[in-house]
Amino acid sequence: MSIENRGVELTHYSVSGFRSLTDFSIGLNRGLNVLVGPNGSGKTNFIEFLDFLSSAISQSAATAVSQAGGVARVFSQEQSKSKTSKISAIISGVADMEGRVDDKELKIFNFEYEIEIKFSRSQSVIFVSKETIKFRKLRQAHELELCRSPVGAISVRRQVGTLDKGPVFEVSPRLQTKNIRNPLRYLNRFGMAFRAPDEKNLDSIYVGFDESIFSARQNHPAVDAVRSAITRGRSFNLVPEHVRVPDDLTRTPAIYPDGSGLTATLYHLQRASQPTRRSRPVISRRFLPEHLEAIVEWTKLVFPELNGVSVVADPHTGKYLGYLNIGQESLKIPLQSASDGTLKWLGLVTLIITRGGIYSVEEPENFLHPKMQQYLIDLIRDFSSEPGRPGYFIMSSHSETIINKCHPDELILFDFVNGKTQCSRLENQEAVLEQINETGFGLGYYYANNAVS
Ligand SMILES: Nc1ncnc2c1ncn2[C@@H]1O[C@H](COP(=O)(O)OP(=O)(O)OP(=O)(O)O)[C@@H](O)[C@H]1O
Ligand SMILES: [Mg+2]
Repeated sequence: MSIENRGVELTHYSVSGFRSLTDFSIGLNRGLNVLVGPNGSGKTNFIEFLDFLSSAISQSAATAVSQAGGVARVFSQEQSKSKTSKISAIISGVADMEGRVDDKELKIFNFEYEIEIKFSRSQSVIFVSKETIKFRKLRQAHELELCRSPVGAISVRRQVGTLDKGPVFEVSPRLQTKNIRNPLRYLNRFGMAFRAPDEKNLDSIYVGFDESIFSARQNHPAVDAVRSAITRGRSFNLVPEHVRVPDDLTRTPAIYPDGSGLTATLYHLQRASQPTRRSRPVISRRFLPEHLEAIVEWTKLVFPELNGVSVVADPHTGKYLGYLNIGQESLKIPLQSASDGTLKWLGLVTLIITRGGIYSVEEPENFLHPKMQQYLIDLIRDFSSEPGRPGYFIMSSHSETIINKCHPDELILFDFVNGKTQCSRLENQEAVLEQINETGFGLGYYYANNAVS
């Protein structure tokens, strides 16, 4: 093991008011981020916060709160007696306008996004009280010195008493110039330049009081790029029983957060891998001809008897029926009869290989043989390091096997102190690595013995 691949911090989150996350701060690195720590330390809370944030931005604050379990579960208990509860978060990271603008060089910029969601008990209303997007200068990938140079900010504010009047909207004048380093110099898809809202165009920008500025109809490429940098994270908790179920022919092919969608996804991957049929509409640009083969190859590592997988669209049942082709004679075993571990593995591998965005997986070790857990880490490293791939991957785990496979800089240690979640990276990374190399014991061994802090 070497330390040269030490992660570069990609995205930083500060959160207050969401369950046990108060004055909580975490940096996610490129590649693998493994959340470890005692039961109840807040790992799931952080992963669910990412879902909450995505949902608040792409749907509404009220929807996000109800999806995360309602007011009583979402806002930190500390605030339960106050008139207003508040969740606030600051996310800083890098946005990329790839595919949204023509310029191949100047399409990256750093941003800082702040959101505040309030719940007023007296009025029984949830609203977005504050949102700010700060834009840094457009830069080329290597121009790191420009990362921190600000251009300006868009900000929106609301108060509970004046929700019906619409928000107070502010835009820095520098964001409305044609300056080559201004991320907002690009026109939107209606060919309109970015301008601060006034009475007349407020309608096109103004959204409901529990909605985010990102749900405005006329967003510009730079705003959209920030949105996708923030909302790509989705959490997955694959349950073999759900992976097992044959999908309806109408199912959109993708692995869903509970693990369902495998047969529909494999069917469309199978179609993508058969060149003669490519004239048919391609259902997802993310499905490449080589994906199915990659899934089979990775599955063979843990299940050497496997020859391939095949899926038929059965008109009688209206379902996709999947089969594992096994052994020399190519025995066909229905996917429904496969073991829990095999199904979970297939679901995970298909997810990792086909998914374009950043995502997290909770305790993937359940049902998986230790060897599979080790291959899983290899698979994630392989696919998150590919050029054009999302960049980071979050996993929570209690598995000694998984932690053994991790490099010291991939771990984030969670702890629960005075009712709050805290987290940190290993401080003594070099020393730990030296110990590991000297003793031959993995990181998981030290972790399980409380020797890592
Ligand atoms: N609304 C809330 N306000 C404050 N603290 C909360 C709230 N809801 C849950 N908690 C605290 O959050 C902790 C639960 O965190 P979480 O479920 O994220 O733990 P975990 O690290 O995923 O644990 P495990 O390893 O058992 O899955 C508990 O200690 C609980 O007291
Ligand atoms: Mg948990």
